[in-house]
Formats: sequence, C-alpha cells, structure tokens
Amino acid sequence: MNGPRRDPALVNPYAPGAGTKPPVMVGRETQLSVVDGAARQVEAGRRPPHLVLTGLRGVGKTVLIREALAGLRERGWLCGYCEVRRDVEVGVALGTILADGAALLPRRKKLAAAVRHMTATIGSVTFSAAPDGTIGISVAPNREGGAAPDAYRAALRLFRDLGQAARDDGAGVALGLDELQSMRRKDATTLLQALEADEAEDTRILLLGAGLPTTPTELSKSRTYAERFRYEPLDDLTVHEARRAVEEPSKALGVAWEADALERVIGLAHGYPYFLQLYASESWETSAPSAVVTSEDVEQAIPRVKRSLDHGLYGTRWQRASQLERQYLIAMAQLMTKTGAQVARSGDVARTMGRDLSDLSAIRDRLIQKGVIHSPASGRIQFSVPGFGEFVIARSTDETGP
Ligand SMILES: Nc1ncnc2c1ncn2[C@@H]1O[C@H](COP(=O)(O)OP(=O)(O)OP(=O)(O)O)[C@@H](O)[C@H]1O
Ligand SMILES: [Mg+2]
Repeated sequence: MNGPRRDPALVNPYAPGAGTKPPVMVGRETQLSVVDGAARQVEAGRRPPHLVLTGLRGVGKTVLIREALAGLRERGWLCGYCEVRRDVEVGVALGTILADGAALLPRRKKLAAAVRHMTATIGSVTFSAAPDGTIGISVAPNREGGAAPDAYRAALRLFRDLGQAARDDGAGVALGLDELQSMRRKDATTLLQALEADEAEDTRILLLGAGLPTTPTELSKSRTYAERFRYEPLDDLTVHEARRAVEEPSKALGVAWEADALERVIGLAHGYPYFLQLYASESWETSAPSAVVTSEDVEQAIPRVKRSLDHGLYGTRWQRASQLERQYLIAMAQLMTKTGAQVARSGDVARTMGRDLSDLSAIRDRLIQKGVIHSPASGRIQFSVPGFGEFVIARSTDETGP
C-alpha cells in the first residue's frame, strides 16, 4: 500500500450502538440550550416546564439526555438517569436516579447531606442511603400491579425534601427518565401527580425525559398535566452536521476522508445518526492502515454494515415481531416498493392484506409502540429506520416463498 499510514495504535473513534456517546455530538445545540435555559430558571426560583426529548429510534435521545445531565451535574445539580421499562415501578425509577446521582455530588453540599440521610418508601419500593452515600433499593415481594395509592404522597415528600436541599445549594434536581413512552399508566400517573403537586412550591425538580414520538400522547393519557410539558423533537442531522459527525473525529486523529468517500457515507446514512456512526466506523476499519479513507474503503465497508444491520438493528426487530406483525410489515414494504413512496396509507395496507382497517389497528399500534413504524400524519405510516423496507422485502421471500 502506498500513501501515508496512520499510527497503528489509533483506536476507532466512532461509536455505533445504543446510548454510546458519539465522539462529536453535532446538531443538538438548540436542545442543549433549552436545558441550559431551564436550569437557569430553576436556579432563579422560577418554574420552567418539564422537558421531554422525542424522536425515532437511533436519532440520539439517550446520548443527548446523558449529555444534558452531565452539564447539570457540573452546575452542582443532583441528577441521575433511568431507562424505564414496563415493569419498572415509579419508586424503582426514582431510586435508580438518586443512586446514580448521589455518588457524584460534591460532599459538603446540602443535597449530598439530604441524600445521605434519606429513606423513602414509594409504593412497594424502599430506598435508603448507606453511610458511604450509596443508595440501596429494595422491592417488597408479593405486591403486584405497580405503585400503591399513597405512592404519590411519598414521591411528593421526596421531591419536597430534595427540593429544599437543592434550594439551599442554589441548584436543582433533574430526573433523567428515558423510554418514557413505555412507563405503565399508573406509574406515570403517580409521577405526574407528584410533579404537579410539587409545582405549587418553589420547586427545584426538573423532569428531563426522552421517548418515542408517541410519548406526549401516552403521558397525556395518564394526566393532562403532561400537555403543559415542553417537548423537544429530535430530527435527523442535516448534511452539514452529518459531515462534521464523520469528519471531525478522524481528523482529530490525523486520518482524513477523501471528499468522495465522505459524500458517499453521508448519502448512505440519510442523516440518521446511528447509520453515520456505523458506516464511518466500518469504513475506518476497511481503510486501515492508511491515513486516508477512500471511496473504495467505503464500498468495502457496505457489506459489513449490511451484515451488522441484518444481525442487529433489522434482525432483532424482525425476530421480535409476531407472525401477524411480520405480515403487516411485508404488506407495507410491498406497497411502498410498488408506489415508490416512503409512506403508505394504513387503509391501503389493510386492503393489500384483505382485512378490515379496524382489524389491524391493534397490530399497527403495537408496531408504533415498539418504534418499528411511525405515523407522520393521520392515516399514514412509515418505517422508522432507513432501509428497513428493503430488509423486509428480502425476508418476505423466506416467509411467503415456496
Ligand atoms: N448528535 C449526534 N451526533 C453524532 N452521533 C450521534 C448523535 N446522536 C446520536 N448519535 C449516535 O447515534 C446512535 C444512537 O444514539 P442513541 O442510542 O442515543 O439513540 P436513541 O434515540 O436513544 O435510540 P433508541 O430510541 O433506540 O433508544 C449512537 O451510535 C450515537 O453515538
Ligand atoms: Mg435510547
């Protein structure tokens, strides 16, 4: 091989994955400044609306929420992160957040003291601090069905205690709750009820949530208070931002992208952050040991990316889909191939399947809840990840073929 070589000790800087911090986070300045503005309001004793980031799978909600929490921590806030799942009770979520945040608080602050002396029982969940400042969480056995009726009061008490300490510190408390759309209705109601009641005080508690685009609707079903939240949608990156996300990390390590190679990756990724990391990462590998990434390197990386998607992002969605969900996805993909559009009407999908629209609405809703498809406008549906339609067509021959 001719041309300049890279330092063999260099490590691939790109970060394809779920919640993996990108080497350079681009295009999220607006959302970060919204968080910053809310933090300043809280510190001034005002009450900004709670914030929730919304967006499709892989668009960068988790990494942004973590980045925002890290920024608040630097301001002396108590903040932690919890990924909600359906079986995560609100008490577990709050305990996890505090356990995550407690360890990183400056020792002499009031907030740290409040956490060190804390015990709380929220529903069937008790959490309490050990002398070393770590927080243990225990769940009482044999209590099915989520938060107990008094859970809201216990959560409110916790918010008030922590709020008081945060006020003394001139700081705040941020509850980083990811995958909010999947929180059970009664847990979400408890949380929202406590947040709403806490608003009557000079609250220091700020919800910093994230979830799929269905989150506003889901939360509002639990309590209309959620309609007053500030929802910040995350979109795909612009071409300019995408270029930065790919070029800057390698440039910092002395590895350059040829202009054509860079444009090819940008075209392949469609501004989708996860794809940018994945194509850039695989191209980085195929270009070694050169100090320049060329178009040939990108072409060689494409089958590696496809393999990775087939076994990862696409494959797992397909594996988790029921037979009827698969048939729905296939009908949708075939329809889109025929029309050449990126969007389908759910009525046409039902017709293709020879079924009534109402028969299929539960299937459609389930696929939306899983983040496999989404509805950009009433009666329309779309795949949530670029390229998934082609994958489904390829799989459809396995399902329906001879
Ligand atoms: N602003 C950004 N700039 C560059 N890369 C990014 C950016 N945001 C996210 N990424 C990359 O995109 C990928 C997905 O990010 P992340 O897991 O945060 O998405 P998500 O929206 O939480 O997805 P999911 O809904 O599946 O949880 C990661 O590989 C991450 O490094
Ligand atoms: Mg996420």
